[in-house]
Amino acid sequence: METMERGSEVTCFSINLFTVNEDQVQGEIQVAKQRQHQGLSLQLSTGLEETVLTIQDGDGVCVFKFTVTRETDCCRVGTQSFLITVGCLSVLLQFRTQSEFQEFHIQLRREEKSAERQQSVFDQRTEDSSALQYFQFYGCLSQQQNMLQDYLRTATYQKAILLNEMDFKDKIVLDVGSGSGILSFFAIQAGAKRVYAVEASPVAKFAEMLVKSNSLSDRIIVLAGKIEEVSCPEQVDVIISEPIGYMLLNERMLESYLHSRKWLKPKGMMFPTCSDMHLAPFTDEQLYIEHYGRSSFWHQTCFYGVNLSGLHSSAVDEFFKQPIVDTFEMSILMAKSVKHCINFMEAKEEDLHRMEIPFVFKLLQSGLIHGLAFWFDVAFIGSKMTVWLSTAPSEPLTHWYQVRCLFQTPLFGKVGQTLSGSVQFIANTRQSYDIHITAVVDQSGFKSGNSLDLKNPFFRYA
Ligand SMILES: C[S@@+](CC[C@H](N)C(=O)[O-])C[C@H]1O[C@@H](n2cnc3c(N)ncnc32)[C@H](O)[C@@H]1O
Repeated sequence: METMERGSEVTCFSINLFTVNEDQVQGEIQVAKQRQHQGLSLQLSTGLEETVLTIQDGDGVCVFKFTVTRETDCCRVGTQSFLITVGCLSVLLQFRTQSEFQEFHIQLRREEKSAERQQSVFDQRTEDSSALQYFQFYGCLSQQQNMLQDYLRTATYQKAILLNEMDFKDKIVLDVGSGSGILSFFAIQAGAKRVYAVEASPVAKFAEMLVKSNSLSDRIIVLAGKIEEVSCPEQVDVIISEPIGYMLLNERMLESYLHSRKWLKPKGMMFPTCSDMHLAPFTDEQLYIEHYGRSSFWHQTCFYGVNLSGLHSSAVDEFFKQPIVDTFEMSILMAKSVKHCINFMEAKEEDLHRMEIPFVFKLLQSGLIHGLAFWFDVAFIGSKMTVWLSTAPSEPLTHWYQVRCLFQTPLFGKVGQTLSGSVQFIANTRQSYDIHITAVVDQSGFKSGNSLDLKNPFFRYA
């Protein structure tokens, strides 16, 4: 029997009901069990948003109802039954005929598939556990404070916005990943008419509180949710965001920033507008020895009577996979940096899924090359002026520091020789990147490289 109810499709099946954990059974489900002989029926109702299962007794009274989501524990049992666990209760639905069960099963799976299709771009590219941990992290005021207190970062954003006041005056602005809302406030200071502040972490409620206490509720509208999922009430003139992680790319928030362009009017502006990632070979014997030394624990042959040395090479591999976050003197750089540019006005999200940066460095000094150092700059290209935020080792330190990737085996190079190769960044579902480096000193043929996990850096700064 099929009926249509308020935009949702409802299909009915006859069932028997069994409960697996008898001691937990109470209330309506108990009643339903007792009324089995009256003929229980199951309604599968599929609407736009959700799939609901309703069990009714012979008089059409609903005795049990629940929503099936991606997280619902359920499975097929044999040829005619279906087991569902809701909280601490497990219910076995036995269909009266096999064909009814098959129809039910096909329909449920069709719904699951369409729910998968409805997943946002963010959900498709992110493991649930990663997203949960990520937004919990940003939900803490202490983390927002850490960013706000990065003077160079916060002051440069304010400067870039206020010095280009005409790009904000009476304009509609979108703040992607607004956190505490600081950039939205800067946009208002520059005269923005209205700002939509989109924030996916629980800090959205604190942003809302700040907006209210600063009497700006009529001009800053906080939209709690992911930029990939929220609906912005109107197209905007300017998008502002601080979507930057370690090595620029960590967190994969740049993709969310690019995604937000769907809300940008033609000829709209992006603040920041573009970025340059820099890389250069470095020499640092002390760092190399120290890093290698971290694994010497696993050299021990009698640790509480146990020989650990069989794991030494695995430990070396693990430690060398960690990019090192800290700062250094410019003098350790052995060549002029190579630059990789990303234009946020034009780049597509897919462009950031896989990136290859080829390099040829002409060595300015002889010595051991221990790896590659990375830093980045972002530019705010306004109508009046361009403002740069730099994380170069020559500039005052930011909370992004610089990042170094060691080679497992250092390479010897002489002044005038060339080091060539490439760095590959491959995005992963943990909101980060796998990094693969290959390098060769062209004149000697000495080769080295490394594969690293940007999600798990080693924080070396004091
Ligand atoms: C680096 S913080 C910047 C916070 C704030 N704009 C600032 O400058 O202080 C990035 C913020 O974006 C949020 N975020 C990350 N991805 C997001 C997404 N896809 N949709 C909405 N918010 C997101 C995070 O929860 C975090 O609060």
